[in-house]
Amino acid sequence: MQHIKQYVDENKQRLLDELFELLRFPSVSADPKYKPDVLKTADYVAQKLRDAGADKVEVCQTAGYPIVYGEKIVDPSKPTVLVYGHYDVQPPDPLELWKTPPFEPTVRDGKIYARGACDDKGQFYMHVKAFELMMQTNTLPCNIKFMIEGEEEVGSSNLAIFVKANKERLRADVVLISDTSMISMEHPSLETGLRGLSYLEVEVTGPNRDLHSGVYGGAVANPATILAKMIASLHDENNHIAIPGFYNDVVDLTPVERTALNNAPYNEAEYKKDLDVQELWGEKGYTTFERTGTRPTLEVNGIWGGYIGEGAKTVLPSKASAKISMRLVPNQTSEKITELFTKHFLSIAPASVKVKVTPHHGGEPAVTPTDSVAYRAAQKAIAESFGKDPIPTRGGGSIPIVALFEAELGLKTVLMGFGLDSDALHSPNEKYDIFNYYKGIETIPLFHKYFAELSK
Ligand code: BES
Ligand code: MN
Ligand code: MN
Repeated sequence: MQHIKQYVDENKQRLLDELFELLRFPSVSADPKYKPDVLKTADYVAQKLRDAGADKVEVCQTAGYPIVYGEKIVDPSKPTVLVYGHYDVQPPDPLELWKTPPFEPTVRDGKIYARGACDDKGQFYMHVKAFELMMQTNTLPCNIKFMIEGEEEVGSSNLAIFVKANKERLRADVVLISDTSMISMEHPSLETGLRGLSYLEVEVTGPNRDLHSGVYGGAVANPATILAKMIASLHDENNHIAIPGFYNDVVDLTPVERTALNNAPYNEAEYKKDLDVQELWGEKGYTTFERTGTRPTLEVNGIWGGYIGEGAKTVLPSKASAKISMRLVPNQTSEKITELFTKHFLSIAPASVKVKVTPHHGGEPAVTPTDSVAYRAAQKAIAESFGKDPIPTRGGGSIPIVALFEAELGLKTVLMGFGLDSDALHSPNEKYDIFNYYKGIETIPLFHKYFAELSK
């Protein structure tokens, strides 16, 4: 498509400069100290939507961070695409591991290094710029609605309320999201599912105060040791999760689905090299793609207790804690899994300690259709811009709102992500390839074109 390439070429530097401006806002939703910055980011996004040509742009207040809405209705009889993304980012910690500061986007080797570069500012902004392109070149073939939220990284609880209260405004034919990964630029792919999530915090309390580890150690249970033992017991020798009933609702893939999934290119040596590990780990009987895409998992996200400052302090801590998450697959539900975990974790606690389990957020798994008009439009768009048919994959991450869109609005989603798993999402030195950014801006108008055409 000549006009697309030409527009991107003529605006190359500006398209990049604007993304950099967006990346300079430290819009960390998890940490209240960034509140003014998160709010400014919402205003910036709203202004950019207006500049691109959106109507009815509104920074919609919620009990938490606002949702930015905007739309362009070219013709009510034409199909409508609802674009979802998030302007909030994960905390940048640990800061000392960043080669350049997380909120000063820096280009090295053709890649933009910044928190949010890939997740999700770099990706949702491609949609804003693709929309601008279609407006400027008079090629917007369908209606478009934008909903860009600021609480995805903390569970989207206010978005759920917003969606329920704005069903009419959000009426559309499909949801389009770029917030997932591709296998590689040589092997373009489309994710066709996301895992759900159940996130909890556990606290083990022993004695009523920190104790001298010499005076009391050996006679009083150490909550850190107990916690470690309890956590270790959550996987059995085959790395299955040892919580009774945990797998009851898991829907197994058919042999055909398994084969298709494992046909995707995978290089174990490279995978290990990238992570600098000698050996992989996981549930016995499943491949890496199955372990990350189709099987539920349990991870410790953080664990602490006792003295963690400089040097050595001899102390038997009073408390030890951990943040634990479980990734869920169809048809598990976060509520049921949270309940099973809680019951089990309390039941394995020895009488020498007290255990408290506090649920955080959750989200449901989702599978997206591969036989819909919208999926075919995405396939055609990618095939045209990459010169290769996309491979369907299952994503290991979670975007809880996808299941909610289906439940509340009856809408199916297309996950047209342009990131790479190696882009270090949530890690230090998050990056996004400039090539992918432009490629996304060029591919998105093709999606709209084919979606409009195939919908006729
Ligand atoms: N964009 C990610 C999810 C993702 C990443 C899906 C890569 C597929 C591939 C999203 O921003 C995210 O990080 N979600 C959280 C869940 C949320 C409830 C905190 C996650 O997956 O941990
Ligand atoms: Mn994201
Ligand atoms: Mn994320």
